[in-house]
Amino acid sequence: MKSVKPTVLIVDDDKNTRDGLARALKRHYEILLAESGERALAILSNTPADVVISDVRMPGMDGLTLLQRVMTHTPQPIVMVITAYGNVETAVKAMKHGAYDFLTKPVNLDHLDILIKRALHSQKVEGQIENLHEQLDAKYGITNIIGSTPVMIDVFETIKQAAPTPATILLQGESGTGKEVAAHAIHQLSPRSKGPFIAVHCAALSPSLLESELFGHEKGAFTGATSRRMGRFEMADGGTFFLDEISEVDPAIQVKLLRVLEERTFERVGGDEPVDVDIRLIVASNRNLKELVAKGKFRNDLYYRLDVVNITMPPLRDRLNDIPVLCQHFLKDFNHKNDRQIEGIVPEVMNVFSGYAWPGNVRELRNTIEKMVVLGRGKKLTLRDIPANIRDEASDLASGSSWTGGPTPASGSIEEAEQLMIQTALKKNNGNRTKAAQEVGISRRTLHRKLKKYQLEDSAESENAESE
Ligand SMILES: Nc1ncnc2c1ncn2[C@@H]1O[C@H](COP(=O)(O)OP(=O)(O)OP(=O)(O)O)[C@@H](O)[C@H]1O
Ligand SMILES: [Mg+2]
Repeated sequence: MKSVKPTVLIVDDDKNTRDGLARALKRHYEILLAESGERALAILSNTPADVVISDVRMPGMDGLTLLQRVMTHTPQPIVMVITAYGNVETAVKAMKHGAYDFLTKPVNLDHLDILIKRALHSQKVEGQIENLHEQLDAKYGITNIIGSTPVMIDVFETIKQAAPTPATILLQGESGTGKEVAAHAIHQLSPRSKGPFIAVHCAALSPSLLESELFGHEKGAFTGATSRRMGRFEMADGGTFFLDEISEVDPAIQVKLLRVLEERTFERVGGDEPVDVDIRLIVASNRNLKELVAKGKFRNDLYYRLDVVNITMPPLRDRLNDIPVLCQHFLKDFNHKNDRQIEGIVPEVMNVFSGYAWPGNVRELRNTIEKMVVLGRGKKLTLRDIPANIRDEASDLASGSSWTGGPTPASGSIEEAEQLMIQTALKKNNGNRTKAAQEVGISRRTLHRKLKKYQLEDSAESENAESE
């Protein structure tokens, strides 16, 4: 049978140390032994090891030189060095050269065991993101959008298929779901990737500013127009034009946009000479455009022109399984940006995270990890590092809920499930909040807050009626 135990290479010139470590580790690991740095390299050239534990002071090649040599290997083993007690300088040097950690003599075997386990775990998740990046890159050419859940695979497939075509793309989805990242990916995967990518955020500008920003203006078009100015559409010539928050565009500009879409031509503000542009259009909205059309707030004809390839970015709560890898991705990023070395996130944090609704989606998750990395107090991020608002909103339902069944919500959203759960519990307990809270497994105070949030206060007894 093929062994699945990780391999540990022990390098020490002292036989007693080698044997002692081997004895302690052989239950959980495949052990290799080397009495010198040279011998260790010879072994590694045939047999890859997951972990190398090396003494520093040895005759011939010393531990630090061995470390430097091993760091060039692929796959790269995790290296830990054993230094004499109190030899801080060597330890620091080893860490600088890429050692995962150092141990002091005499080696505490329990500590060693924990250290190896932790190192292998962090290597594994890191390997997972790297793998995912590679897969997404190889399969879709997409490297900046993280996701491996079926709903995201669907999005990737559509992007891959539509990106190389000149088709207009409509990206919809709640705020923070990655519409702008998707727009960039589409541009990168299109034959226009060498051309400009020009983005305009419609909500940020007043109608008249937006108009001259998009179409440019002629000299003297309005007070302050002292010279002719090129608009963003012209700047995007030969490239991709990304129009963000298109639902906020004023009706007069909607008409002009329609013409750009149909004829790829327009006039600058204050001018009558038509300007032709060669652009690929991507538009985004975090409001449902079809609904806005139904309400008469968005032009029907414009909507149909935009609705060629329609991609909806799923909210984070519908792809909870992507949370761990997104977290790892952001952890790495913010460790790097803040010069921090947080090693990982304990699994309990993921439980809380998957019990939270993430109204701000991936952006909120990203900001949360940033906060946790900056303020993190330990080697790993744990429950106490989670911002209070998220812990309050999520933990009641995520951990130890006594809820075991009942009606299931139609859309599958956590908020809806929560609301249903609370309503059912209240009904069952004749509106008694204390009993309902107990049944759902949350505190009475939290229940009170949630009733307010979902405007369910009528279905519960008033505060006074219940106080006994
Ligand atoms: N799948 C993803 N993988 C990695 N990062 C992501 C992903 N989705 C979103 N992000 C990150 O989340 C943040 C918000 O994404 P983005 O700006 O694309 O959202 P949006 O849908 O355009 O939101 P809004 O409607 O508010 O403009 C960005 O920092 C982005 O890098
Ligand atoms: Mg956006």
